[in-house]
Amino acid sequence: MTESITDLIEKRFAEPVPAGTSRQADGATALILRHRSRRHFKPEPVADGLLRMLFACALSAPQKSDLQQVSIIHLRTAGSGEIARLIPSMPWIAEAPVFLLFCGDGRRIRRICDLRGKPFAHDPLDSFMNAAVDAALAMQNFITAAEAEGLGCCPISAVREIADDIVRIAALPDRVFPLAGLCVGYPSDDPAISVRLPMALTVHVDRYDDSGLEAAIDDYDRRRGERNPLNPLKQRAKDRFGTTDSYGWSEDKTRQVSEPERLGFGDLIGRSFGIRF
Ligand SMILES: Cc1cc2nc3c(=O)[nH]c(=O)nc-3n(C[C@H](O)[C@H](O)[C@H](O)COP(=O)(O)O)c2cc1C
Repeated sequence: MTESITDLIEKRFAEPVPAGTSRQADGATALILRHRSRRHFKPEPVADGLLRMLFACALSAPQKSDLQQVSIIHLRTAGSGEIARLIPSMPWIAEAPVFLLFCGDGRRIRRICDLRGKPFAHDPLDSFMNAAVDAALAMQNFITAAEAEGLGCCPISAVREIADDIVRIAALPDRVFPLAGLCVGYPSDDPAISVRLPMALTVHVDRYDDSGLEAAIDDYDRRRGERNPLNPLKQRAKDRFGTTDSYGWSEDKTRQVSEPERLGFGDLIGRSFGIRF
């Protein structure tokens, strides 16, 4: 493939970005720019040794204060089948030869405190967030390393929709919570690169400034629609918002967040970490 870094960045943003390099795309930079979530997999298994290497990569991620508040659960037996049945809208869970749970783990350090006779005195919400961030960084490292090995992944935050079932299936104790599931396997499709919001909205210099939002979103919807068209027959919440000819990213996402989602998850975290929301 003879693509330059500039070409890949143009694919990611559907507009040219002055990136100060015309070199050929290779190495980690190219791999990261080419990232796509994968939702179709070959039946080919993933070797245990390769998985162990990818776990090592995941656990090489930076971790807040070196507390290492992540646990990865490899659901090898019936668990992933049950999760797939509980989330029928995402058939890629059943199709993936490997299904993992990346969990924030606020339990381990508290157990070590008990072992060493120390109190745990950190702020509960900050402590929850640190564990969530550690798990997220580990999952991203896993994804990047897996993609370097020719595998594809799809994170599944929908596991938080069925948090009580996940707690039961994976025997998660208090203070260990699912950040996301992860489908892993050899991809059998070739989806388009998902176009990101323009850096004019997401990268700020010196001060936060979203004064250009309105114009930028219209433009983003148009450019994104050309590269990642949405199926006009699959408009969300038609009963509340009807159908429209201009169904772009912003219409889709605002309809998505206008529906309640994961209202029980706060209770689980609140109970577990002693946080009152
Ligand atoms: C924390 C997290 C949770 C996600 N949950 C789901 C999910 O439940 N189901 C799904 O199909 N994709 C899920 N995704 C994948 C996103 O939809 C995807 O990353 C996004 O559309 C951008 O596409 P890309 O990864 O191909 O660039 C999740 C991604 C992240 C980072």
